[in-house]
Amino acid sequence: MAPYRRQFNTEGPIYLDGNSLGRPSASVVERLAEAVRDWSENLVGGWSRWIDLPAAVGDRVGRLIGAGPGQVVVCDSTTVNLYKLAAAALSAQPGRQVILADADDFPTDRYVLQGLAELSGRELRLLHGSAVDGLDTEAVDAAIDARTALVCLSHVNFRSGARLDLAAITEAAHRRGALVLWDLCHSAGAIPVDLDEARADLAVGCTYKYLNGGPGSPAFAYVRRDLQVRLRQPVWGWFGQQDQFAMGPKYDPTSGMGRFLAGTPPVLGLLAVDAAAQTLESAGVPALWAKSQQFTAMLVDLIRDRLEPLGATLASPTDPGRRGAHVSVAHPRAWPWCKALIDRRMVIGDFRPPDVIRLGPAPLYTRFVDVFDAVQKMTEVLQAGVEEVQDRPRVT
Ligand SMILES: Cc1ncc(COP(=O)(O)O)c(C=O)c1O
Repeated sequence: MAPYRRQFNTEGPIYLDGNSLGRPSASVVERLAEAVRDWSENLVGGWSRWIDLPAAVGDRVGRLIGAGPGQVVVCDSTTVNLYKLAAAALSAQPGRQVILADADDFPTDRYVLQGLAELSGRELRLLHGSAVDGLDTEAVDAAIDARTALVCLSHVNFRSGARLDLAAITEAAHRRGALVLWDLCHSAGAIPVDLDEARADLAVGCTYKYLNGGPGSPAFAYVRRDLQVRLRQPVWGWFGQQDQFAMGPKYDPTSGMGRFLAGTPPVLGLLAVDAAAQTLESAGVPALWAKSQQFTAMLVDLIRDRLEPLGATLASPTDPGRRGAHVSVAHPRAWPWCKALIDRRMVIGDFRPPDVIRLGPAPLYTRFVDVFDAVQKMTEVLQAGVEEVQDRPRVT
């Protein structure tokens, strides 16, 4: 990955937060500068080129998650796309009353599903798994029945990094007629995912983590080709309309993936995602994943050898087959420990309540020595002692 690392500015503290916000590559910086020039010179004339970006960038992101062309669009946020796709799935399953989800999933997923359950008069059933190892495939399988309309799960848990068996759970849901919506926020651009091969129904994910699209870059939405005409999402905006510029009287959505768009797409963010995803495509997800697995194995060993004797515990699966691309470590004073590492410009990870520091070494621009040194610094800070801190800023 060395040639790729050179495309990033890697000065400063050791950055192990690529699972939260990726770094900008030189190509992203250039593409954004070019886009601003284009805007200032061509003004509204640029739209003839920008209008198809959600689909074009969608196809590019699709190649990173095993989706053939015409099944992915890039638009809106993950939260909004999750809402659109979950609502569309529920409308297509009128006789089924239950939405299944993970009690330990990322908050936005649970909140969106709570809102939709309330709005559609359905029951939201939250499954409880292990905080470290996540849900068992068998437990998810056993919970799906003829009343299940939708199963909505994250492929990789945001806190522990526990990874679910996407293909097996998708198959289990299909056996009982349920649809599955996957949140790929912590997999896209880091872990091989083959949505087409798994015959996945729906997926969403963000582009600012491993995909390096930048803060607030638009999310992606995947709908399997044969489902597209069957599904109708609830935000009937003009970007989903056939012959949009005819400005017709009634909503009549396009037959393809375009119907999952709503309003004007964020062009600058889309261009950044396009440039960033091009770099990932060139590096190749299998190679990124191979390096990532070495990182997580190394982190697990170092946490056990150095941090566990100091009162910390591994908060990610010990089984590599269940791990994602980040590793978490728990400690009763995780927040002051994390804060000390950031304040002293040593290591940037992030804190997730109640007691976890996440370490996400993005394989594209992180070196093995960074991971080694990060744990060394974490050890030194713990050995020196961390004081309880009462206040926590708005963002951790
Ligand atoms: C697993 C998961 N789902 C959803 C989201 C929310 O994405 P957004 O805030 O872009 O809607 C995040 C954000 O970090 C996430 O980690």
